[in-house]
Amino acid sequence: MTEFRFDQWLDLYATRVNMMRSSEVREMLAVAARPDVISFGGGMPDTRVFPMNQIVEATQRVMLREGHAALQYGSSEGHVGLRRHIAAIMSEVDTAIGVDDIIITDGAQQALEFIAKIFISKGDTIIVEAPSYVGALQAFMSYEPEVVGIPVDDCGMQTDILAVELERLRKEGRQPKFVYVTPNFHNPAGVTLIEERRRHIIELSEKYGFVVVEDDPYGKIRFRGENEIAMRSMDERVIYIGTFSKIFSPGMRLGWVVAPKAILEKLIFAKQAANLCSSSFSQHVTDEYLSSFDWQKNIDDLVDLYRERCATMISALEEFFPEGATWTKPDGGLFIWATLPEGLDSGELLAESIREAKVAYVPGRAFYVGVQKNSSLRLNFSYCPSETIEEGIKRLGAVVKQQLALYRSLFKGYSPGKDKNKNKK
Ligand SMILES: Cc1ncc(COP(=O)(O)O)c(C=O)c1O
Repeated sequence: MTEFRFDQWLDLYATRVNMMRSSEVREMLAVAARPDVISFGGGMPDTRVFPMNQIVEATQRVMLREGHAALQYGSSEGHVGLRRHIAAIMSEVDTAIGVDDIIITDGAQQALEFIAKIFISKGDTIIVEAPSYVGALQAFMSYEPEVVGIPVDDCGMQTDILAVELERLRKEGRQPKFVYVTPNFHNPAGVTLIEERRRHIIELSEKYGFVVVEDDPYGKIRFRGENEIAMRSMDERVIYIGTFSKIFSPGMRLGWVVAPKAILEKLIFAKQAANLCSSSFSQHVTDEYLSSFDWQKNIDDLVDLYRERCATMISALEEFFPEGATWTKPDGGLFIWATLPEGLDSGELLAESIREAKVAYVPGRAFYVGVQKNSSLRLNFSYCPSETIEEGIKRLGAVVKQQLALYRSLFKGYSPGKDKNKNKK
């Protein structure tokens, strides 16, 4: 009799498959699809408030005017009209960018995959924030790198620690390939990298010869304050990644990369090998939408809505979470990063939260490489209406309090931090 094996192809897979892991965010989205669950799990914009009439009109115009092109293959670099719009959008960040400095990708996610593909050989060192966007970790890990995580505080990646790590790596003879940062309204931490640290990363990149990868999906989702200067505008060698997912529609699956010519050439090879070109249909419709409608006003409306939902979530956390819990108060983006009182693990709590409270979130450990226990959780506030946010945080708070009481009864003498208002920022 042949031995039963769960996966009969186990010996045939490439070694990189061992490094691939399913994303807890995606699993959460599956749970979130159940109508009885309130999900703070995904990173989804609220498509229910999108300007549907405008999108219908843009689609109709494209099909009547240039349907043949919209239904055809396009260039690997992407539709020129759309790249012109991107150059204009980027002019807020860096005026020097032209159409030929940009290639269009299937969302920012594909850009991350390509960057991993062209820079990482097995065993190479890369540097990320800790915590870091889970989708970037997934893209990078399948190329089998050694990952160094640099902790993030209220001002973003702690570049003094980065400098120490770079020196350590140099002594060990290891050349980091790139440093990956999400400078604006970090996913998951919600924080923004301050200018001084942006400049420090650029200085360090000159000294240690790594590439800076600046991933900026949330820069335009700002509720208050002034934009920080982009690293791409400080140094043309920076790779900048943008996306239409948060400012228009994730369903279009369109993002872009700006990179120095030599790197762009390699990215185009990767694009051709992956899928020849991004959807012509999406690109034409997005181009038409940006040409014909006041898309900036649509973003402003969306930002107003997210500001209000973020404020609702913060008030609900203040009301319903126990003493000792802390959370970020972001100036933009889609996420709050909450930290539970000492002793509680957000991963263990999740099953209880889904079962008891019917509330989903992403546990902190998903955003680290090699971390099993973590007391933080990522809470999305862009998707649910305010009343649902309040209800969800109320139910989640009750589960947290219940687990905390259990923990305290097991470990007598335990006392969380005294100051309830000790929240970051
Ligand atoms: C930091 C970051 N980078 C990239 C992406 C991927 O975005 P896209 O939908 O453009 O692929 C996301 C999505 O949430 C993100 O948060």
